[in-house]
Amino acid sequence: MSKTTADAALSQRSDMVVFLNGEYIPANQARVGIATHALSYGTGCFEGIRAYYNSDADQLYIFRALEHYQRLARSCKIMNIKLAHTPEELVEITIELIRRNGFRENCYIRPFAYKADEIIGVKLDGLRDDFTIFTMPMGDYIATSGLRCMVSSWRRIDDNMIPARAKVSGAYVNSAFAKSEALMSGFDEGIMLNHDGHVSEGSAENIFMVLGSELVTPPPSENILQGITRDSVMEIARRELEMLTRERVIDRTELYTADEIFFTGTGAQIAPVIEIDHRAIGTGAVGPVSRQLVSLYADVTRGRRSEYMNWLTPVYEPAQSKSGHNGRHAQNGHNSHNGHNGAKAKAEKPTTATKK
Ligand SMILES: Cc1ncc(COP(=O)(O)O)c(C=O)c1O
Repeated sequence: MSKTTADAALSQRSDMVVFLNGEYIPANQARVGIATHALSYGTGCFEGIRAYYNSDADQLYIFRALEHYQRLARSCKIMNIKLAHTPEELVEITIELIRRNGFRENCYIRPFAYKADEIIGVKLDGLRDDFTIFTMPMGDYIATSGLRCMVSSWRRIDDNMIPARAKVSGAYVNSAFAKSEALMSGFDEGIMLNHDGHVSEGSAENIFMVLGSELVTPPPSENILQGITRDSVMEIARRELEMLTRERVIDRTELYTADEIFFTGTGAQIAPVIEIDHRAIGTGAVGPVSRQLVSLYADVTRGRRSEYMNWLTPVYEPAQSKSGHNGRHAQNGHNSHNGHNGAKAKAEKPTTATKK
């Protein structure tokens, strides 16, 4: 593949396969009309999912795929979007999509369910819903070496405005305001407060404080997205570090005096925070709990910890596996797939997808 092709926007690429309304098609043939409702009004729900490559096992593991698609189903319910597939089917479609792209490197998966009618009119009912997934190689989204943050002047959206528990595309304007304000002010990330002035979350990350032997994080009622990484970290901290997580309201200035702070998110992974509003957090360097969690999370996501294999969905047949992990994992009880077609696969009708 020439550099030019690899650098081109996804919509220009014939060598990448995407899923659109029941079919696997070359990315440069996936078209959405300019009057699409979701484009005008932000009426879509999406997910961000990562897959991690383990070179020893020559395996790509999708991290907590089923939980992401279950959250997508909940988002769609809130937004009155009909999903044509069950979460289990969506996991299978994703496996097939990655196989057709032939990725053997870390990658990002972006499913999107949206109001597709090309009409003028703001509403959620009586509209056609479409669904797409694209996937692309992706490294770290934000640095994990210690972030400098500010508390944003933008407040987090409220449940009665745009529900934060649903991953609604239009709601990301709120995140974009906070992120850009932080970047343009010379920081790495913004931390949003909710309407009561309590800490909510980062632009696309949940937030944790380390206070002594405990982790503390805001509860779902503080207008957070209930992160799957957040849930994973709570579990890993409990099992590996014997640290319990307290979900409670957090005041802004508690952040300044925490022992450690870190963000969690599919994109951010575990990202330690070393400064907020020009105050050093802890010693001003990445703390020991954050460092251990970063390392544990890297091992868990790459299938190097057998106790957590039920969070991983292997994409490829394990025949050449060098690490001894054989067979599909226990999480979803998927069937095996045969016949990976590679990146240049001619688009065909899906084997597992139910066409709308
Ligand atoms: C607003 C917001 N909060 C939190 C998260 C973290 O969620 P997860 O760990 O499921 O990726 C995200 C991730 O996309 C997000 O967009």
